[in-house]
Amino acid sequence: MILVTGGTGLVGSHLLYKLTQTEDKVRAIYRSEEKLKAVKHVFSYFTKNVDSQFSKIEWVKGDILDMPLLENHFKNITRVYHCAALVSFDPNDYYNLRKTNIEGTANVVNLCIENKIEKLCYVSSIAAIGEEKSGIEITEESPWNSERDHSVYAITKYGAEMEVWRGTQEGLNTVIVNPGIILGAGFWRTGSGSLFRKVQRGMNYYTLGKTGYVDIQDVIDIMFNLMNSNIINERYIIVSENWSFKEFTQKVATELNVKIPSKEVNSWLLNIAWRLDWLRSTFRGKRRRITKQIANSMQSESLYSNSKILNTLDYKFKSVDDSVIEISQFFLRES
Ligand SMILES: NC(=O)c1ccc[n+]([C@@H]2O[C@H](COP(=O)([O-])OP(=O)(O)OC[C@H]3O[C@@H](n4cnc5c(N)ncnc54)[C@H](OP(=O)(O)O)[C@@H]3O)[C@@H](O)[C@H]2O)c1
Repeated sequence: MILVTGGTGLVGSHLLYKLTQTEDKVRAIYRSEEKLKAVKHVFSYFTKNVDSQFSKIEWVKGDILDMPLLENHFKNITRVYHCAALVSFDPNDYYNLRKTNIEGTANVVNLCIENKIEKLCYVSSIAAIGEEKSGIEITEESPWNSERDHSVYAITKYGAEMEVWRGTQEGLNTVIVNPGIILGAGFWRTGSGSLFRKVQRGMNYYTLGKTGYVDIQDVIDIMFNLMNSNIINERYIIVSENWSFKEFTQKVATELNVKIPSKEVNSWLLNIAWRLDWLRSTFRGKRRRITKQIANSMQSESLYSNSKILNTLDYKFKSVDDSVIEISQFFLRES
């Protein structure tokens, strides 16, 4: 039987749909009934028989920080997809990020070892990959410099990967995927989904920073293929193409038929913006919207290489163009 953590999130819900079609038995962890509706909503993109597909999943209530409960959920499990994480760039969330991403992953790894799980697939991020000088492609081998000013999210995703690598030293078979920004429908208030919302509501500005993007279906297919291969103890950057924020937001605006962001925000303005945001958060207790690290990434060019996964699986990625077109159609139907 397969166990999925984070089944009520973007990655987990799309993965669960695939697993309900291909695998006999799937167990998934959820934290609140409310979030199960989001999974059904994602299933409704693919099938009219949402309930019958949904009922193939054995849902168990739990939390990756609650070891006694988690221990029970590992009974009769042979393979694990670990998608649960806290995704936040707000330094005020650092404690919770460390708890969920590092301690939570350590719990999953320890139970995988204890229960002699055949293979663990861990969803990491390009945030946990090292860096190169501007213009040079970043690969799985690019060195991580702990002296660098990383986001709190990146630090904890890197720490989580360390727990998975520690697991491999203790005999656990793993594969790690490091996706770029994942483009997928259904979660319009978080991740890339929230960018579609922001562009629709009117975004005047763009930045020239570049990063990697990938369609959710590609992430899922690659996770599935890696899990069903003989490959173990490898990590793979999962990126289709590297786009600038300008190209991305302008493409989304075109597809949503709204005003195209047309003014460039230079580094000077970004540096003022994150400082004002810090003041707003410090004195008014608001959540951070733009941090120093986000401002840096919005203006830096990070080019991610997908050569390793292409050479391993002979895979063809969906283009970012096609992905944005498809997701925009879902978005327009629901907004
Ligand atoms: N989205 C992206 O662009 C992107 C890019 C690269 C990597 N990733 C990685 O992909 C993975 C999935 O991300 P996502 O976009 O699907 O995030 P998401 O939509 O925010 O989903 C996160 C999932 O983790 C669960 N979770 C959080 N804390 C938990 C805990 N203590 N115990 C059990 N479950 C917990 C959430 O449960 P609730 O629903 O109950 O909150 C939810 O199911 C993460 O590891 C993330 O770092 C995402």
